[in-house]
Amino acid sequence: MNQHMRPEPVPFIDLAAQRRRLGKSIDEAVSRVLNHCQFINGPEVTALEKALADFSGAKHVVSCASGTDALLMVLMARQVGPGDAVLCPSFTFCATGEAVALTGATPVFVDVDETTFNMDTASLKRGIATAKQRGLKPVAVIPVDLFGQSADHDAIAEVAEAEGLFVLDDAAQGFGATYKGRRIGTFGLATATSFFPAKPLGCFGDGGAIFTDDDELAETLRSIRVHGQGSDKYDNVRLGLTGRLDTMQAAILLEKLGIFEDEIAARNRVAERYARGLGNVVTVPRLAAGCSPIWACYTIQLPKGTDRDGFAAALKAQGVPTAIYYTKSMHQQTAYRDFPVAEGGLPASERLSNDVISLPVHAYLDEATQDRVIAAVRAALGA
Ligand SMILES: Cc1ncc(COP(=O)(O)O)c(C=O)c1O
Repeated sequence: MNQHMRPEPVPFIDLAAQRRRLGKSIDEAVSRVLNHCQFINGPEVTALEKALADFSGAKHVVSCASGTDALLMVLMARQVGPGDAVLCPSFTFCATGEAVALTGATPVFVDVDETTFNMDTASLKRGIATAKQRGLKPVAVIPVDLFGQSADHDAIAEVAEAEGLFVLDDAAQGFGATYKGRRIGTFGLATATSFFPAKPLGCFGDGGAIFTDDDELAETLRSIRVHGQGSDKYDNVRLGLTGRLDTMQAAILLEKLGIFEDEIAARNRVAERYARGLGNVVTVPRLAAGCSPIWACYTIQLPKGTDRDGFAAALKAQGVPTAIYYTKSMHQQTAYRDFPVAEGGLPASERLSNDVISLPVHAYLDEATQDRVIAAVRAALGA
């Protein structure tokens, strides 16, 4: 094809469009920080934590340096370590299991439901049994709200309660979603999220936050994020991290939080249109009962036998980018393949790693562009 005839590429995530919408407000917020010079623990950090608590309904919000630190800090606060097992889905971003392994505990990988991509509670029960058989003590479960759809928190809570596990919700992709009318951030002992720029609520660098109703946990987390400091600044009472969210990122997030509700609605409109346009040619994501997702990713499954690379190339030729989350589940990756998996294996995770592909989704994808994506998918499948 002649270079000049190539269709204009569709952005996978359009951060520039959001920046245009917010106009000067982010520049002004950043300028305020540049002028007051409180780059660490400035007033914007406290204001953001309060705004996030109001938004989510959680009693405490402890902002931190990344979604990975958010997970790790909760595990550290609960003194999870060698001999402990933490149940995680395998079909997730590596940070879920990585945070567990960094504490010296053992991640035990469990399977997901292949229609919602989220933790399968039957496999969770098998994983707990596997952990015990290996002489490990199951102490926690980390459900992931994958691609922006909430995990089945009621079902997971029931298993966790019966087994005496605490629940740490990995909502790096799910913050902004609701489950049975409640916002993510209020399930389990604590919720961890990420403000990585590509996340539905992202900053301009790395950032994260922890949500909890537990007063003691919140206090411990605030100590851990500053090297485990106690009431005397130079008497560190536990091991900790340089785990703070910097003031500049908090200032940016405060501006973005102001339009987040509206962006969530826009993302939902894109997903609904995709489902209408594509539901009869590919497997579109299934909405579990009571879930209202945030659509961090719009992930489809291709018909059996489709050449996924060929499909991606056909879309690319039409200017439609795709991404594959995740070509390998965690238990298939070099660093994690020696950790246990739930009895019976993880067939859904393995199948999904071969079959899924994600389409562009963001709050600024107009209807004409959505139609281009839909047409490109249909054409690539000969529909
Ligand atoms: C499911 C999940 N957990 C944890 C993380 C880690 O977040 P961060 O990149 O902010 O450390 C991510 C980020 O991509 C994620 O998708």
